[in-house]
Amino acid sequence: MSGMPELPAEDVRRFAQIREDFTRMMLGYRFGMEQVATRLEILREEFAELHLDNPIEHISTRVKSPESIIEKAGRQGVELEIEALREHITDIAGVRVICSFVADVYRLVDSLTAQADITVRVVKDYIANPKPNGYRSLHVILEIPVFLSSGPVQVPVEVQFRTVAMDFWASTEHKIFYKYEGDVPPHLRQRITDAAVTAARMDEEMAELHRAVHGTD
Ligand code: GTP
Ligand code: MG
Repeated sequence: MSGMPELPAEDVRRFAQIREDFTRMMLGYRFGMEQVATRLEILREEFAELHLDNPIEHISTRVKSPESIIEKAGRQGVELEIEALREHITDIAGVRVICSFVADVYRLVDSLTAQADITVRVVKDYIANPKPNGYRSLHVILEIPVFLSSGPVQVPVEVQFRTVAMDFWASTEHKIFYKYEGDVPPHLRQRITDAAVTAARMDEEMAELHRAVHGTD
């Protein structure tokens, strides 16, 4: 039929196996991410029902596209092999949790990471220690087990916790960063960092207002 030479049967089998392994890997990341999101939804509902307060404004999830995984692996010199990716590219599955108050961030992180089958790999507290540009958020890279028919896999998930004010700042900064392709002029950089300080002050003011209305805690 076509002029394409037939691949040897051995190569066809090998490619089919790679494709199956990759599909299973991506499913694992999606399920791991969905499980983390569900556990956060459970905590949200529990707090809402029992404490009449809602610590979560919004949860979003995303799985990195195969193109971005390959691009990041190439950039970081990571082999395109399932174990190497699992070890070194820890943001293939991402969950973002937007909270009302800074205290809610810590409350949620504690409740989630205390769960028996969740292992914490890394905590990066950019709220206590903001990045030089002013970026604030709390990142937790955790592992959660996912049970596939081929057996259990430990799936790394990057969970980013932030307040509404931190999220507003991060999404604005991200847009500016992209507009200038990373080369943001110095006078804008300073204003972005100043805006982060304003956002942090807003978080403090909101927490004080909340305390004034609801008492301490
Ligand atoms: P990568 O940024 O994924 O290469 O990993 P890293 O080791 O630098 O981790 P880090 O915790 O610094 O950042 C992970 C993620 O946090 C990023 O992919 C962004 O989603 C977010 N993030 C980190 N720094 C910034 C920042 O300065 N601005 C914004 N808007 N987002 C940031
Ligand atoms: Mg980074």
